[in-house]
Amino acid sequence: MRCCVVGSGAREHALAWGLAKSADVVVTPGNAGMAAHGLTCVDTHPTQIDADLFVIGPELPLTQGLADELRAQGKLVLGPGRDGAQLEASKAFMKQFLHDAGVPTAHFGVFDQPEEALDFLVTMVAPYVIKTDGLAAGKGVLVTSDFAEACADVLDKLSGNAFGDAGTTIVIEEGLDGEECSLLVLCDGVRALPLVPAQDFKRVGDADTGANTGGMGAYAPMTSMSADDVAAVMSSIVAPTLAELARRGIDFRGVLYAGVMMSSQGPTLLEYNVRFGDPETEVLVPLYGDSLAQLLHSVAAGELTSVPATTGQSAVTVVLAAHGYPESPRRGDVISGLGDDGQLAAAHEGVVVFHAGTSRDEQGRFLTHGGRVLAVSAVGETMAQARSRAYAACEQITFDGRVLRRDIARAAS
Ligand code: AMP
Ligand code: GLY
Repeated sequence: MRCCVVGSGAREHALAWGLAKSADVVVTPGNAGMAAHGLTCVDTHPTQIDADLFVIGPELPLTQGLADELRAQGKLVLGPGRDGAQLEASKAFMKQFLHDAGVPTAHFGVFDQPEEALDFLVTMVAPYVIKTDGLAAGKGVLVTSDFAEACADVLDKLSGNAFGDAGTTIVIEEGLDGEECSLLVLCDGVRALPLVPAQDFKRVGDADTGANTGGMGAYAPMTSMSADDVAAVMSSIVAPTLAELARRGIDFRGVLYAGVMMSSQGPTLLEYNVRFGDPETEVLVPLYGDSLAQLLHSVAAGELTSVPATTGQSAVTVVLAAHGYPESPRRGDVISGLGDDGQLAAAHEGVVVFHAGTSRDEQGRFLTHGGRVLAVSAVGETMAQARSRAYAACEQITFDGRVLRRDIARAAS
């Protein structure tokens, strides 16, 4: 089988690496780290590539209809069309969809006028949650107990200052409390089956402090989610979603990523993404061994019957981000500790380094080239072993201004 992965981040590096265990892989456009790791990267539009399976990583090409274009050419694609991608492209659309479907979610209002938004905000109790409607790379959400900060954020987002066009409509919603879980559910248009639950660390600082980011690390499986908890998410959240998709005539073939809060009232949906999570993918792919290509092919073909068991190991990913991330990441810092293949200079058992934002200079040195720079993943027989392997590897990789969290998977180890 020949697979084409679309995208250029650590998630796509992990997908390409996992698919390459049992298939030929081409990545478009890929990045310097993937090429160094022996993956074929081409700068060709996906519609010009010949492959048996297309796996679209990021949300943007999905919302722009790339899956529709490829399917119109008769290609097999993992990723929803423009219609299904609306679930991620607009939080206002998603909230209305959840309401119609009867999926439990936070009480909310949608606004594009400051007076109405502020009138609604005063009726809410802390913590206040203000979300940019459109795509904002995970950074468009403010959760704060400071009313003045919430008001300022409402005005900032509605003015378009904060996120340009993505921010001129906002969702204000009830703050929820509980443990967060990323449940990535494979949907083949009819059937839906979950991968093992993962947990992502969204805030930039230890102990969940500082700004929201695209994700600073992850671990899986999330053992505090029991099989009953996963079954409850599937029946109370995913099943009504599938019914609503069918009612609207949306053939969703891809990953329905449920961001769930396990609140005291039961599982509550915070958001849907319509793609693999980043960095969740960097912990999930290593757990599924060489079964990925066949599994994703079955999803795209509408023939999903089962998800293979994991290797039984645990996985931890620690993200190394650039100086200034998430507000204003700096590019061009020289990274040391990576070998010529972009992996660790010295072997570390169970570790793989997925490149998110790196480039190479004329001397072949790796440079920072994005907000999230590297995702250092490790598997182990226990979570503690995976965690200590991942952090030991991180110690070997240095660059000026490196930002990382020290508490990824600490509580779970
Ligand atoms: P989202 O992009 O909607 O998943 O939001 C990003 C992050 O903000 C989530 O992972 C949560 O940590 C937090 N968040 C979002 N919505 C809420 C909410 N209603 N209550 C509390 N925290 C939230
Ligand atoms: N890890 C959060 C996301 O992929 O959106």
